[in-house]
Amino acid sequence: MIPADFIDELLAKIDIVDIIDEQVPLKKSGANYMACCPFHKEKTPSFSVSPTKQFYHCFSCGAHGSAIGFMMEHQGLSFPEAVQQLADRAGMKVPQTRGQNENPEVRAERKKKQQTLEETTEAAAQFYAQQLPLHAAAHTYFQQRGLSAEVIAHYGLGYAPEGWQPLAKVFQPYPNTALVESGMVVDNEGKYYDRFRHRVMFPIRNPRGQVIGFGGRVLDDSKPKYLNSPDTPLFDKGKNLYGLYEGRSAIKEAGRILVVEGYMDVVALAQFGIGYGVASLGTSTTAEHVKILMRQADSIYFCFDGDSAGRKAAWRALENALPQLKDDKALHFLFLPEEHDPDSYIRAFGKDKFEDMLLSQSKPLSEYFWQHLSDGLNLHTQEGKAELVKTSSPLLAQITAPALGFLLKQKLSELVGIDPADLAQLLGQEAPKRSVKAKSYKLPSATAKQPAMLTLVQKQIRSLLINPNWAAYIDLPEYLVLDGDFACLANLAEWINSQPAAPSSAQILEYMRHSPHQALLNLIFQSASGISEALEGSSEEDLENFRIGMKKLLDELKYRQIESLKQKNLHSGLSDYEKKLLLSLLTLKAH
Ligand code: UTP
Ligand code: MN
Repeated sequence: MIPADFIDELLAKIDIVDIIDEQVPLKKSGANYMACCPFHKEKTPSFSVSPTKQFYHCFSCGAHGSAIGFMMEHQGLSFPEAVQQLADRAGMKVPQTRGQNENPEVRAERKKKQQTLEETTEAAAQFYAQQLPLHAAAHTYFQQRGLSAEVIAHYGLGYAPEGWQPLAKVFQPYPNTALVESGMVVDNEGKYYDRFRHRVMFPIRNPRGQVIGFGGRVLDDSKPKYLNSPDTPLFDKGKNLYGLYEGRSAIKEAGRILVVEGYMDVVALAQFGIGYGVASLGTSTTAEHVKILMRQADSIYFCFDGDSAGRKAAWRALENALPQLKDDKALHFLFLPEEHDPDSYIRAFGKDKFEDMLLSQSKPLSEYFWQHLSDGLNLHTQEGKAELVKTSSPLLAQITAPALGFLLKQKLSELVGIDPADLAQLLGQEAPKRSVKAKSYKLPSATAKQPAMLTLVQKQIRSLLINPNWAAYIDLPEYLVLDGDFACLANLAEWINSQPAAPSSAQILEYMRHSPHQALLNLIFQSASGISEALEGSSEEDLENFRIGMKKLLDELKYRQIESLKQKNLHSGLSDYEKKLLLSLLTLKAH
């Protein structure tokens, strides 16, 4: 966790205009700076950067954020990485608190341990790489699989020799704590031996290039074929991808990333000139993986083995991807002929054929989605259609990408022949009720026009974001029940008012990043109408409109609460507190 104070300080110190201008040359236009949006293809500029508000916004695709958000989206960095990079250039040191105020000694201890583990896995990787040329069976194995010395070196492949304790040659004393904690040595009731013995070795690196674990393959067809490092303080299978570090420049260059199942697939693809392959590590593709993938490239291809396990893995990947989908990221699925995996396919047909097939025969997520769900259903029957609505609706409800979600719902309406409005109602009942805590934000209905029309509350939230000091004009009495978007507005106003000085728009965006309202903000920014004028600067009249808007909202809230209390009175009567509340609401109503 990076303390919020630090983020505020950082945002105050850097200038978003400088940071974006380095990557995307900006032109001054009125109070703001403009450029063609780097997040979607366009010919006329709709990407605007506001120096006073310290945030960027694209009127066309809705991309928006602070300097931190820009670094994340544009450079493919994680939140801590983006903060680190900006702090470096501002000459600031990022304080790290883990949990609540970790004491410095504990922290130093933890860091040291982490470092020792990293040194251990690094030394093991070097040892294995050195051993490879010394053992005929091992280097012949890689040779037979067609790997060149360059590819072997690029991926740091190696060999763990035979015997119980090959690592004892490198590590003295053997065993030690780091060997066990890094998963290199197994502790079997006090008997210690190397996890990897007589196996060819694939070191797994994190995005910074540090070795965090290994996969090891047998040289024949004995079992288990692959052994992997266990999850350790360094290594979390669900959060790392094999080949990501090695493939970084190829991924950037190609503008796409290819997800395959196996270590050997990644390495063989690279051998044949496709360096942008990565593999999950013997687990299914997790939501965390999808997030990482989307930071690397706009086009993501999944290509799993042609067997039934591969097909299952593809569908799992799709399911885990749904909540992460973004309108500017394209996911594709390529299904190989039954008998092939990417390794055998590229070996048989070569790079050009493989890439041709990847680009022309892979299915976009939307197509795969409907094809898989309709498989085995007869959509000419009522039952088949009903089944499709039933199986697709919980999946559709997870999609927050506005355009993609909209289009998929429209497609469902075509497939089952139910009018979009009726379908929206049907889906609305299936989907979980909107609540403040809900992570995803459901569009008002599947038939809503794109971009979505904003409600008054949403417009007020947007105005507040652009003009944080207007929080002073928000007074929502405590007795009012605030839910949904109202809760967001109230929460935001309360936070702004609690700050010693009015925060910038960028600070608010960062504050919201970890809140349940993040998705609502995305929705608000998707709707372009009015925002460009607002960003140019707000007039007295705008403020007056904002105050009038607040009054309307307050009246609406009061009215709603009065109505619900009246209803309750009719049905079950009111408590003393509720009676008083109703009375004060009624007397306040004229206000
Ligand atoms: P595959 O069996 O498809 O391996 O497993 P592969 O990459 O085609 O390997 P080769 O071509 O036979 O060498 C795919 C992935 O599943 C995990 C590994 O991560 C492997 O790369 N796996 C497989 C295991 O973890 N353990 C196993 O025993 C087998
Ligand atoms: Mn294979």
